[in-house]
Amino acid sequence: MKITLSTIKADVGSVGGHLCPSPEVVARVREYLEREGGGLLIDHYVTQVGDDICLLLSHREGVGNHEVHRLAWEAFRVGARVAKEEGLYGAGQDLLKSAFSGNVRGLGPGVAEMEFEERPGEAILLLLADKTSPGAYNLPFYLAFADPMYCSGLILSPKMGKGFAFTIMDVAHTEADRVIELSAPEDLYDIATLLRDPDRFVIEKIRSRATGEQAVACSTTRLHNIAGRYVGKDDPVALVRVQRDFPAIGEVLAPFALAPYVPGFMRGSHYGPLMPVPEGTPVSFFDGPPVVMGLAFSIHSGTLTDPVDVFAHTFWDHIRQGAAEKALELRRQGFYGPAMLPFAELEYTGIMERLEALEERFFLR
Ligand code: F6R
Ligand code: MG
Ligand code: MG
Repeated sequence: MKITLSTIKADVGSVGGHLCPSPEVVARVREYLEREGGGLLIDHYVTQVGDDICLLLSHREGVGNHEVHRLAWEAFRVGARVAKEEGLYGAGQDLLKSAFSGNVRGLGPGVAEMEFEERPGEAILLLLADKTSPGAYNLPFYLAFADPMYCSGLILSPKMGKGFAFTIMDVAHTEADRVIELSAPEDLYDIATLLRDPDRFVIEKIRSRATGEQAVACSTTRLHNIAGRYVGKDDPVALVRVQRDFPAIGEVLAPFALAPYVPGFMRGSHYGPLMPVPEGTPVSFFDGPPVVMGLAFSIHSGTLTDPVDVFAHTFWDHIRQGAAEKALELRRQGFYGPAMLPFAELEYTGIMERLEALEERFFLR
């Protein structure tokens, strides 16, 4: 049976700054889906990390479905209304347009969707990151789907040995979706050449070359391109199908132990380590560090099991410790050099305005 998983996330307001949504906001979003989702959805799950709320919706309506997107949009609108009533900070911040126009893409919420023939024992991983941008998954997914140093299945399993095809989007191109498909292992150096720049090139999809089946869908929204001004980093969601002809769940999780430096953190304008955290963890230090949570589900005829919180395992305490040390090390140099993002990626205009004002005080000698 073909099913579709849609995961849609938004920041509709948070308590005490950009830390986390209120329990009431999350409860009301959940309640709305339970009440209104009945005829349309097979199942759903509502979760949160940092200041974001994320909906995982399972249904039979395919990718980009008008009614499914409308349902998610209305659920977030309910959340935004409660956030406003409670006086939360940034209430409704990711609902950039006031009217729904058929699809949440381009309106603010981040979305990753996949339609597939459900396998017996279908196993999936939902990843949700906050205080960072869609390119945050570039390195972990490159390592999990193209590097046998991290994914031994690439040499141990004959089917996985045929490699994976990466669809990569140029997110700086805002007029239309500009994408390229490259295949590992032949195009490995080209894939690396693009993915090294997570601000510009972002993995959108990965599929198995042995079966043609899609393994990964990532959100590629760039809020500051949509809004034309800073409205928060794009806090990406991703769906990964795991096991059998795809990497094992543990092979997908392994690269997250690197806690790679990613763009985001305070004011969306710095680099910080991507810290794997348990479900629902708020952000804190320097509005960060950037965090990623992961929930693993099994699915049967579109019905979701209760999830396993993959980064709650004690192994990850050690990784979190290391990530905190990496964060402190880079924070020690404040605004200087590689601690802060390059001009084009700064989410606030202050530095550009200062530079412009200084222009006329420069002189040629
Ligand atoms: C980053 C983020 C925060 C804010 C910061 C200032 O994604 O949301 O770091 O940029 O707290 O927020 P404002 O400008 O809303 O006071
Ligand atoms: Mg926020
Ligand atoms: Mg956020």
